[in-house]
This record gives sequence, structure tokens and C-alpha cells, in this order.
Amino acid sequence: MDRQTTPWVGFGAGKVILLGEHSVVYGHPALAGPLSYGVTARGVASKRCQLALPGTLSRTQKALLNNAFRRAARLCGEPGVKVTMESELPLSMGLGSSAALSVAYSRVLLKAAGRKDVPREVARLALEMEQEFHGTPSGVDHTTSAEQQLILYKRLPNQSAGRVRVVKSSRPLKVLVVLVGERSPTKKTVGALRERQARWSARYGRLFEEIGAVATEGAKAVEAGDLEALGDAMNVNQGLLSALGLSSPPLEDMVYRLRGLGALGAKLTGAGGDGGAVIGLFLEPEPAVAKLLELGVRCFSSQLAGPRAL
Ligand code: PMV
Repeated sequence: MDRQTTPWVGFGAGKVILLGEHSVVYGHPALAGPLSYGVTARGVASKRCQLALPGTLSRTQKALLNNAFRRAARLCGEPGVKVTMESELPLSMGLGSSAALSVAYSRVLLKAAGRKDVPREVARLALEMEQEFHGTPSGVDHTTSAEQQLILYKRLPNQSAGRVRVVKSSRPLKVLVVLVGERSPTKKTVGALRERQARWSARYGRLFEEIGAVATEGAKAVEAGDLEALGDAMNVNQGLLSALGLSSPPLEDMVYRLRGLGALGAKLTGAGGDGGAVIGLFLEPEPAVAKLLELGVRCFSSQLAGPRAL
């Protein structure tokens, strides 16, 4: 390959958590799948291992990205590559934009180092970046992005990699994703929940346990091709997230709107809070997408699972 003219390309998919956000932080399983949208990174051979960042980013954002990149680059032996990126994902809305970025950069670093970008290696480097962005993430975001498949993910105590079970669906899984209002950073929402959990640990522990059970049931429903059962699990999960204090009127309104438009199930996805992303599971989301777009609602549809050709 001509290193100067043919860039190394790496794609990192955005993700949605179908079932189990937050409780996954406490070691319970979560069901998550990749979006068909994400971040693409490109690398060209260079004397140094470096990032080229868009001028539109603030100094703080640039410093954060550089620090995260340097951590992954060090693990990969600092290959000579200059890396750029383009993102199709909205930032900080619960769709795993930082994980997608970490995965895209990691793939390019591995390729530039002459190594295979297999999911396990990609996830190892991406975790290093995610730790810079989020502190102590459960790992569900970057693992889903690196695997590019629907997975049931469980964080393992004192280990950097979680347990991954690929969940095969006999039917296409189509979601409508809506972006609602503005959102607080994940770190803040996760931190506030941790304070409530520490204060009322038995009660919150029971809710986390139940969400984990619902996620496992949801994975079985997917494998059985029972989308109605998956939708019901999503609705129950939304009620439990609300009980944990993670929902809000704008998110709830959108959840009910999507159910009214024919969703088999609807819930917030990601950290939640004052705003963020809401997903609806649809047999055919396009009519609902058209209706919402007409009303000026920010939304799109995506099929979950399946690799994307670059
Ligand atoms: O940052 P988000 O909105 O994609 O949320 C990540 C999912 C959480 O379970 C809330 C946090 C985590 O580390 O798993």
C-alpha cells in the first residue's frame, strides 16, 4: 500500500442502549446495538504520531482529545500517522459519540502500526481514550462500537474488559431515534445517581437488579424474534429509569408520543436527565420519522446490528 496517498480508514459506530443503561455501571447486563451512523477517522503516514483537529473546537476540547489520543497512541507504540476525523453523530446526546470517536481513532492507530483492528484490540485502545473522556465508564459504549453487533454486555469487577455475548436477531431491529432538548454530561448524571444509590442502597439495588433481569429477558426476546416482548421490556425499563430519577417531562412526552405513533416500545437511551435521546422500536419507522420531521422534531431511523461497508 502507498502510505502517503492511501489513508488508513477506521469507522466507529454510534450506539443505542436498548435495555440496561446505568444499572450496567453496577455490574448488571445491558443490551446495546450499533447505529448505522458514527465517526470516520483517516490517517496518513507522517513523521510523528499526531492528530489534526478542526479549528472549530475550543482549546479545552482540543486538549481533551489530544490527551485521550496520546494515551491510546502510547499503548499502540506511537506509529507515524497523522489522523483526521468526521462525525455524523450529535455530541453528548446519549448516542456514544466519544466511544465512536475512540473506536475510529483506535482502528486507524492499529492499522498504521501494521496490526489487525480486531474488536478486542480496538476495545482495549478505545477504553484508554474513554477513561480520559469519562473517568470510569462501564465500557458498554465503546465495546458495542468495537464489536459492531448487538451485544449483551456485563461489566466485570476489577477488569478492564467486560463480558460480551453477541445477540443474533432473526428479524431486523429498527429504531427511531429522537433528540430532545439539551443534556447534562453523563458524568454528572451518573454521579448524582451514585449519591442516591449510596444513601438508599437496598432500594436502588433492587431497581438495578430488576433492570438487569429485563435486559436479559430482552436479549432472549430478540433471539426468539419476539419484538413485541422486546418492546414491552423497553417500556418497563423506562418506568424503572423514571423510578431512579433519570427521566424528565420532555423525555417522558417523547416516549408517549412514540408509543402513540405505533412504537412497540419506547424509552430514553443513554444517561438521560433533562434531555437527550429517546428511542422507539418500530416494525417500520419511516412514516413516524416523516411525521416528526414535518413537525421540526430532530430524529432519524437506524437499523441496529450488521457491519457497515466503508
Ligand atoms: O454517555 P451516554 O449517554 O451514552 O451513557 C452511557 C451509559 C451509562 O450507563 C449511563 C454510563 C456507562 O458508563 O455505562
